[in-house]
Amino acid sequence: MKILVIGSGGREHAIVAALSRDPDVTALHAGPGNPGIAAIAACHPVDPCDGAAVAALATALGVDLVIIGPEAPLIAGVADAVRAADIACFGPTQDAARIEGSKGFAKDVMNAAGIPTARARTCTTSSEVDDALTEFGAPYVVKDDGLAAGKGVMVTDNIHGARAHAAGCDRVVIEEYLDGREFSMFALCDGTRSVAMALARDYKRVGDGDLGPNTGGMGAYSPVPWIFADLEAELTATVVTPVLEELQRRGAPFAGVLFPGLILTDDGVKVIEYNARFGDPEIQVVLERLNTPLSGLLYACATGTLKPDLELDWSPDTAVNVVIASDGYPAQPVTGDPIGGLDHAAAIDGVHVLHAGTALDDSGAVITAGGRVINVVARAADPSAARAAAYEVVDRIELRGKVVRTDIATDLMR
Ligand code: AMP
Ligand code: GLY
Repeated sequence: MKILVIGSGGREHAIVAALSRDPDVTALHAGPGNPGIAAIAACHPVDPCDGAAVAALATALGVDLVIIGPEAPLIAGVADAVRAADIACFGPTQDAARIEGSKGFAKDVMNAAGIPTARARTCTTSSEVDDALTEFGAPYVVKDDGLAAGKGVMVTDNIHGARAHAAGCDRVVIEEYLDGREFSMFALCDGTRSVAMALARDYKRVGDGDLGPNTGGMGAYSPVPWIFADLEAELTATVVTPVLEELQRRGAPFAGVLFPGLILTDDGVKVIEYNARFGDPEIQVVLERLNTPLSGLLYACATGTLKPDLELDWSPDTAVNVVIASDGYPAQPVTGDPIGGLDHAAAIDGVHVLHAGTALDDSGAVITAGGRVINVVARAADPSAARAAAYEVVDRIELRGKVVRTDIATDLMR
């Protein structure tokens, strides 16, 4: 199978790396990719959000499957453009991707499908905002209705801060605060059927102890031992199938990966949000443990041919991913700084170094080109060995002012 992967982050590097180990893959292309991806796939300059350009590239390359990594192209309708060119595409249509693109639409679908989630109100005026803040009380949860790369959500005890964040959004969703431990689920979907992947946990806040502002995600691990098997087995029926049915009923069947962000509360598991693509940095640890070849799975999703009783083959090992971000992340990441020690780090057994926001300078040296720049993914039978190996490599990677959490996967040790 010839495949084109769209995107340029750590998620796409992990997808390309998994495909490079897959015996069914005969040619691997990426657009635009990054320096890490370029070492294992042919990279092509393309604007990921330009549907006509992506479809033209896929046609010119003669690929059998296009995999769209990030949310922005999906919400822009790039999967529709690829399908219109008669090429199989892993990633939902623009209509189905609204489950991620509009928090209001997602709440509407969740209510119609009977999904356990926070009570919420969508507001457009300051008096509606005030009423909703009073109704739900502190901590206040204020979400920009549109897409904001994980940074449109404010959770605060400060009413003035909550009002100010709401005032900066056109439409805002205000909701009940949910207290508990968060985890991520990826359900591979073909429009009607789905298969659940292994669970992962992500760390959203920039600082140790879950302090500081939200980020795209600072680290992850899989599996999630504090979600017991009987609870995990129920998740597809409670948070995936009803949404697939509701989207189908609305004429927007979902083919791609449905990613519920979940939280384990005293009242059971609730959905914080739905995303329409793989989570970054969680998919890196999930793919690290997947033994089933990836290309056939994603092709089956793209073509509506997922097998009903499909079981995926997982390594029992623990995988840990520690993210290295640029100085100033998340507010103002510094770009153009050299990143050293990568080759040395990559030579350590059981560890993979994945690129995210990196570029090459004129001399061919790797430099920062975004916020999150490197993922260090380690796998071992013993969770503490996986964690130690990841941090050993993180310590060897040289970057001025690097932003790293030091407590990724510590909750696995307790
Ligand atoms: P979202 O972009 O909706 O995933 O929100 C980003 C982060 O904000 C989540 O991962 C949670 O940590 C936090 N968050 C969002 N909604 C809630 C909620 N209702 N209660 C508590 N925390 C929330
Ligand atoms: N790591 C969470 C996300 O990709 O949204």
